[in-house]
Amino acid sequence: MSFHEGLGILVQVADFAVITFLNDRKFNQTMRNGTPKTIRLRDYKAPDFIVETVELLFDLKEEGTRVTSTLALRRNPKGDPAAPLHLDGENLTLISIKIGGTPLDPNDFVVTEESLLLRHPPDRPFQVEIVTEINPRENTALEGLYVSGGMFCTQCEAQGFRKITYFPDRPDVMAVYTTTLVADKHTYPVLLSNGNLDARGDLLDGRHFARWVDPFPKPSYLFALVAGQLACLEDQYTTSSGRHVTLQVFAEPEDIDKCGHALESLKNAMRWDEERFGREYDLDLYMIVAVSHFNMGAMENKGLNIFNTKYVLASPETATDSDYEHIEGVIGHEYFHNWTGNRITCRDWFQLSLKEGLTVYRDQEFSSDRHSRPVKRIDEVNMLRNRQFVEDAGPLSHPVRPDSYIEINNFYTLTVYEKGAEVVRMLETLLGRDGFRKGTDLYFERHDGQAVTCDDFIQCMEDANGADLKQFKLWYSQAGTPVVTLDEAYDPATKTLTLTVRQSNAPSPGQSEKLPQVIPLAVGLLGPEGQDLHPRLEGEPVAPGSTTRVLTVCHQEDQFRFVDVPPGTILSPLRDFSAPVRLHQNRKPEELAFLLAHDSDAFNQWDSGQLLATQAIQRSYAGEDASGLLDLMVSAYGAIAQRGASDLSYLSLLLALPDFDYVASFIKAVDPIRLHEAREGVKKSIATELATVWSALYEKHHEAQNRQFDAAAIGRRRLKNLCLDYLAMLDTPESHGLCMTQFEQSHTMTDRMAALGAIVNSHHPQKRDALDRFYETWKTEDLVVCKWFTLQATCRQPGVLESVQSLMKHPAFDIRTPNHVRSLIGAFTQSNPANFHTEDGEGYRFLADQVIALNGINPQIASRMLTALTAWRRFDPSRQLLMQGALERVANTPELSSDVYEVASKALAK
Ligand code: TRP
Ligand code: ZN
Repeated sequence: MSFHEGLGILVQVADFAVITFLNDRKFNQTMRNGTPKTIRLRDYKAPDFIVETVELLFDLKEEGTRVTSTLALRRNPKGDPAAPLHLDGENLTLISIKIGGTPLDPNDFVVTEESLLLRHPPDRPFQVEIVTEINPRENTALEGLYVSGGMFCTQCEAQGFRKITYFPDRPDVMAVYTTTLVADKHTYPVLLSNGNLDARGDLLDGRHFARWVDPFPKPSYLFALVAGQLACLEDQYTTSSGRHVTLQVFAEPEDIDKCGHALESLKNAMRWDEERFGREYDLDLYMIVAVSHFNMGAMENKGLNIFNTKYVLASPETATDSDYEHIEGVIGHEYFHNWTGNRITCRDWFQLSLKEGLTVYRDQEFSSDRHSRPVKRIDEVNMLRNRQFVEDAGPLSHPVRPDSYIEINNFYTLTVYEKGAEVVRMLETLLGRDGFRKGTDLYFERHDGQAVTCDDFIQCMEDANGADLKQFKLWYSQAGTPVVTLDEAYDPATKTLTLTVRQSNAPSPGQSEKLPQVIPLAVGLLGPEGQDLHPRLEGEPVAPGSTTRVLTVCHQEDQFRFVDVPPGTILSPLRDFSAPVRLHQNRKPEELAFLLAHDSDAFNQWDSGQLLATQAIQRSYAGEDASGLLDLMVSAYGAIAQRGASDLSYLSLLLALPDFDYVASFIKAVDPIRLHEAREGVKKSIATELATVWSALYEKHHEAQNRQFDAAAIGRRRLKNLCLDYLAMLDTPESHGLCMTQFEQSHTMTDRMAALGAIVNSHHPQKRDALDRFYETWKTEDLVVCKWFTLQATCRQPGVLESVQSLMKHPAFDIRTPNHVRSLIGAFTQSNPANFHTEDGEGYRFLADQVIALNGINPQIASRMLTALTAWRRFDPSRQLLMQGALERVANTPELSSDVYEVASKALAK
């Protein structure tokens, strides 16, 4: 496009006649009046209008951005032929509206706080041109168009596009977008939007423009724009069919040297998707932009991903090993959405897991193929069991495909993401790797370019495999975690082991009766020497080659009879955590120790150790003698440390105690302080009894100079930092010295954080000094300052609430920055049970105050923070009362956002 055409666009903006100004009432963007209404899946109706194309023109100004939108519309043959045209819109100032170039008569449209209704739209295809004005500077909710660190950016999922312009803001309306950005060239030299750059040029008065065309039809939630002073790291990628793609990572100039890992991760993800799923990238350009104000991790906008800086920026000095892994995972996740989410999208938001569950499964597989598969699986299961199971058992429990919501932002949950991924994983287990691939191939072929449902996905799996998944689909519609009870009966006379499997699922909100689900139960049998047997079921002529058998459980009670089972055989059930269920079985500590020593299934080997330690902590919590269990643990850990392993990351997991939340999941009406103390007590015993082991391992694996990121170096750091954590429990001058030496001499953020954490959690005399020095060194790196917040917020010593309160007044803390809120308030309330749950209820009061403050700033973040109070029924009666009181105070706050209203009211429901 020439300079003149660009000028034309500007003139058009200036010329525009202001025919009507209806929205003179200014209301706070985050508030809503009255009781918000519930949206239901069963009310779904096809859209009445189809949008063919969208032409957008943004005249970007911080306090008054003008948006001109030209929509080419026609009636949907599947819609209501008499329906008016309903466009969504929130916090918009309507400047003008025309149909086919003619200003609309004020009697022909109605504007409300949430919509623009055109009463008599033409029956033939027509064009609507709408001009609105918005205020990005005031947008602290970070949804729609906002300003972050002097940069314009957008976040449209799920319903943010309606805060930019009037539009049918629903994912089943897919259109082709052309976007022109106009801005001051000096302040906003880089102008980006979806698709390919079509034209750019200078305008009068120091302004310039860029015009972007995205040839792929997309829903409005995938729209994005960015404008600002950004540096760019660029590379090329050639797809397997020989297409050339330009890859660009944008960040603030001072951060551009930390973008290399993100770019490498992107190339690895692109190659992996070609090899594993046969998926290639489809545009000439793939852009990633890092922004410091972001409500979640990242967003898969077509061709223009926008990322939280936390999931892009990394250098050995500023990022830990797990930061490196998370960055790779999130880069992969957003890239994989290009097929599972963008090319094929969701018909409605109830289908969110169609894209999220499947994409999480894909990013998990990507990470597993690149690193240690068992370590990755253990991380996933920890997240699922310790967090998703809690959600699934609480008042906000909902199915993977919810059937109603008040605020869709509240449904970006662990259930939709993590349990959704487990459901996809079970399909792979049931159909086999090849059968599953046939199913995804058919899905991509059949539904490319469409907005579809979870049922459509399952239909592809059925059609490609000739399978019947009718009962399996209950995983999408039934909430709650199934409980699976195992009973073993061994008959030495016939050498038969009979396994009785029973399943049940407690009622969830709105679901009193549950049907039995399909549960793939992977099992192995260990002979008396610990060797893997080849399990043979009764009636099978010969034992199959595999040592792990997948049993399909589908009734309330199923029985399986294994034959040729030698006496002393031990069952290894639910290998690799083959289904997201709670397993109930009576396990003798000696059996667990045996499995911990011998199980060939890496997941179950680790899990047996976790259960053994859980039994010890539970016994000590109950005030009983745990010394027998402790002795078993000490000898098992000693043997494991002695034997070593090639995968040191995995070895560190074998030697680590279960999380607080895991142990808590076995206890009703839990007293969190007492449980914390019981766990600390067991940890101290393990630290003391095995002190020489920890010292020796530390010596062997500590290398202050090593800053490599290969698996071996990462494994060594992980193992020796676990040893340091145990040694720090001893709280002696020697252990203090060891921590301080590592703190001062380390070259990686991993080692520095591990040392500082050990110092802060002990009675180290130089604690304050170390914290201050760390801050002074890193105060210009916002992501490192966040780590500094988290370290103090999660400190196990008493008095943390006071330090969190004073950190909120620290000049580095800004409550409008979600990363700050998460790393201080989120960390304290979700990862510091001993301090959050103090008996006086001050932690709860503090959280309620913060949620109320955040409600007026950023409702999405406010409602996320509130989740720390929702599982209140898990705790002892006195804490329940205090937590309930804090929730009630939030619920009774005037002008509550729909986000916070939904969480608070559902949490309190009887
Ligand atoms: N779709 C994004 C992902 O999982 C996440 C997302 C949803 C999001 N809503 C958001 C990100 C709001 C930021 C803000 O990849
Ligand atoms: Zn996603």
